[in-house]
Amino acid sequence: MLSRLSAAARPLYVTTPIFYVNAPPHIGHLYSAVIADSVQRFRKLLDPATPIIFSTGTDEHGTKVQQAALKKKVSLDKYCTSVSDEYKKLFEDCGVEFTDFVRTTEDRHKTAVQHFWSELKNRDFIYSSKYSGWYCINDETFLTESHLRKDTRDGKEVLVSIDSGHSVEWTEEQNYMFRLSSFKSDLENWFKKDVITPRKYQDIIMHSMIDSSFSDISVSRPSDRVHWAIKVPDDPSQSVYVWLDALINYLTVVGYPNEIDMTINSSWPVDLHVIGKDILKFHAIYWPAFLMAVGLEPPRKILCHGHWTVNGKKMSKSLNNIVNPYETVTKLEALRYFLLREGTMHSDANYSELKMSQILNSELADTLGNLLNRCTSTLLNPRQEFPQLHYDEFRKMKENEATHKLISLVENLSETCFRHYDNYDFYKVVDCVIAALHSANLFFSEYKPWELRKSLETQKDLDVVLHLTLETIRICSIILLPIIPNMSTKLLDKLLIPEEYRTWYFTEYISWQNDMILETRNISSKKLLLFQKIALDIQKEVTVS
Ligand code: ME8
Ligand code: MG
Repeated sequence: MLSRLSAAARPLYVTTPIFYVNAPPHIGHLYSAVIADSVQRFRKLLDPATPIIFSTGTDEHGTKVQQAALKKKVSLDKYCTSVSDEYKKLFEDCGVEFTDFVRTTEDRHKTAVQHFWSELKNRDFIYSSKYSGWYCINDETFLTESHLRKDTRDGKEVLVSIDSGHSVEWTEEQNYMFRLSSFKSDLENWFKKDVITPRKYQDIIMHSMIDSSFSDISVSRPSDRVHWAIKVPDDPSQSVYVWLDALINYLTVVGYPNEIDMTINSSWPVDLHVIGKDILKFHAIYWPAFLMAVGLEPPRKILCHGHWTVNGKKMSKSLNNIVNPYETVTKLEALRYFLLREGTMHSDANYSELKMSQILNSELADTLGNLLNRCTSTLLNPRQEFPQLHYDEFRKMKENEATHKLISLVENLSETCFRHYDNYDFYKVVDCVIAALHSANLFFSEYKPWELRKSLETQKDLDVVLHLTLETIRICSIILLPIIPNMSTKLLDKLLIPEEYRTWYFTEYISWQNDMILETRNISSKKLLLFQKIALDIQKEVTVS
């Protein structure tokens, strides 16, 4: 009990990466945001009293952004604000309930970065050095030769990053270095706590530490090269490296450098960083090392996910193969469903409009929507009720295979889906829910309610069929709240389920298991079209440019 109480007092702190404003958002960015949003919504569903800190935002400094604004011929300020606003709007439109949207060009962030820098410097983790090496502007990172390969671009032989495929340029400059090498064993100890999930990514990162020389890293660039950046305190000729700048956003959000506030609110450390696998090194090596250096706790967990690809290639601004979330064949809520249903943490997922349409039509329209229409139709449910359960009739029905299957699936949903949410396996949550809904549709057909309604004698059987299917919809809707909050809310509204009964607890509370004579209740007679089917044009699989 004590642990429950103290757990409730601490907020849950979840983050997404902050996204570069060098181009507008695509479904890859949205994917990270909806994962993080579902995590925090699931927590609220379990315990509505949990305070939540959920941050997202934009990363606005550095060469890449500098170049993008120049190309558009707009001032940097205006450029950053307009793209940043696009991210914010997209997330709001998709029901991503962030509690803070941080921009690295804000004053509060500049204060945090400059303070953090001074802390590193005072503790002697920073030194001045002449640096030469390969720099990848696209990834905003220095790379050693073991991370490069030769490639041909426009007929010329160039060196590119093995990881991202982006080209690098030789750079020689004076800058400041961070003593990363002194954190090797601290990091290894930290990894022992299984901080990176899925485990696969932790193995990759640990392996890379053994492989590479694990040397110190450059944490500043000359200001005459990167003018769009936060200046190093006491040395304006140098600008803070954009990744150090960006990572500190997670501290800015909780009021750093005001560590008293952070302690009072127990807002540090971060509970969960949601990131794509492309930025694992920065979050799993650099970030914890920076934090350890200033004496702050590293994050509790890093949740790393695979990439969205188009025809097998990573969707990215630089490859110009992005999918704009507003321009797909469906609405944003259904897109959210598709992303969490098809994407996984451990591997990449390929985006195809055809596949998306087929999944949405079959699951949201033909399975969930169909079941709803059937048990709420005015023909079969003319009084628009959630009828009570008649136990004698129910017991007889239980002997039937279809009923038996349905009730066992529904009875297992809460526990199974809890486990899947807990492991961030959203696709498995959806799988279980859809299996239960399928089974409910089969059960419904088996009892031919359109026949039952014709005779007074079978009225109670009809009630039981309606009750079981409505109860299935109620439970599935609560379970889907973190994934499709709008649709689930509409379903629960249709069933007139009171607000206070829309928590995880009520997925365990199944009417027929409690042997209660629930009174017949009303449902809303307002018609609900849950999901408008997408017209399939199989011949013309849309290819994105
Ligand atoms: O790296 N599939 O920003 P960024 C899945 N500013 N997720 C994708 C994706 C794809 N094809 N493309 C992007 C940066 N993402 C830095 C981060 S954090 C302190 C600084 C998502 O705009 C995924 O989360 O390049 C990936 O890690 C992130 O966007 C990179 O966004
Ligand atoms: Mg990127």
